[in-house]
Amino acid sequence: MTTTPTAARATAVAARAMDLSKVYGEGETQVVALDRVTVDFRQGEFTAIMGPSGSGKSTLMHCVAGLDTFSGGSVRIGETELGSLKDKQLTQLRRDKIGFIFQAFNLLPTLTALENITLPMDIAGRKPDQQWLQLVIDMVGLSGRLGHRPTQLSGGQQQRVAVARALASRPEIIFGDEPTGNLDSRSGAEVLGFLRNSVRELGQTVVMVTHDPVAASYADRVVFLADGRIVDEMIAPTADGVLDRMKEFDAKGRTS
Ligand SMILES: Nc1ncnc2c1ncn2[C@@H]1O[C@H](COP(=O)(O)OP(=O)(O)OP(=O)(O)O)[C@@H](O)[C@H]1O
Ligand SMILES: [Mg+2]
Repeated sequence: MTTTPTAARATAVAARAMDLSKVYGEGETQVVALDRVTVDFRQGEFTAIMGPSGSGKSTLMHCVAGLDTFSGGSVRIGETELGSLKDKQLTQLRRDKIGFIFQAFNLLPTLTALENITLPMDIAGRKPDQQWLQLVIDMVGLSGRLGHRPTQLSGGQQQRVAVARALASRPEIIFGDEPTGNLDSRSGAEVLGFLRNSVRELGQTVVMVTHDPVAASYADRVVFLADGRIVDEMIAPTADGVLDRMKEFDAKGRTS
């Protein structure tokens, strides 16, 4: 394992959006989902993206993660400009450098937990680092469940499989779109704890879209979106602080 000096880690950018715009549709039905968004996601940092429904959170995540095309501006993952990539290269980049966790766990029902965890690497023809894999499996507490299929697991356990799957290949960055949206608060807290630990202890970079101020409080930083623009940022957030900030936006929204 290589160690990066703290100072270098603190400034290195895992992903960056510059003047990123995304417009859906044309003419009267046109929707500007992202309006020149500029944001950095630094290495080894846990960022939460918050904002009202329809503010562009998922669109931002999908564009930065190479899951969707954008209308203007640029996106960088590490040193790679996504705009310069052909479809095949983009698929490869997603596979090799990015981990995903979705609200619906997106596990394959015919595969065991372990097979689901290693599937992306199997597809890529890469051998998992066994020591790392064991560490990840232990961290999410799945050692006794590796032979189970998704239907034999609880929702919380299924999402732990998805977390382990995202971490298994040590991607440069993990994106989660409401990863705790389908979980009860206890399972949600567990999953958030694993994400938090993966950042603190394993140096992972995580970007998570969430509606929940408590979930956001696990992050190092919260970025607030409204109407496709970044309107605020909070470092070392607390749940109460995030909740207060969201109420302010609501109040402004009603008076403007
Ligand atoms: N495929 C699409 N076609 C047209 N408009 C879209 C499409 N996807 C999203 N939009 C619009 O873009 C805007 C941003 O949507 P987005 O899904 O990013 O919001 P969000 O912040 O993730 O909301 P939520 O919290 O409800 O998930 C919304 O106005 C939405 O209606
Ligand atoms: Mg969304």
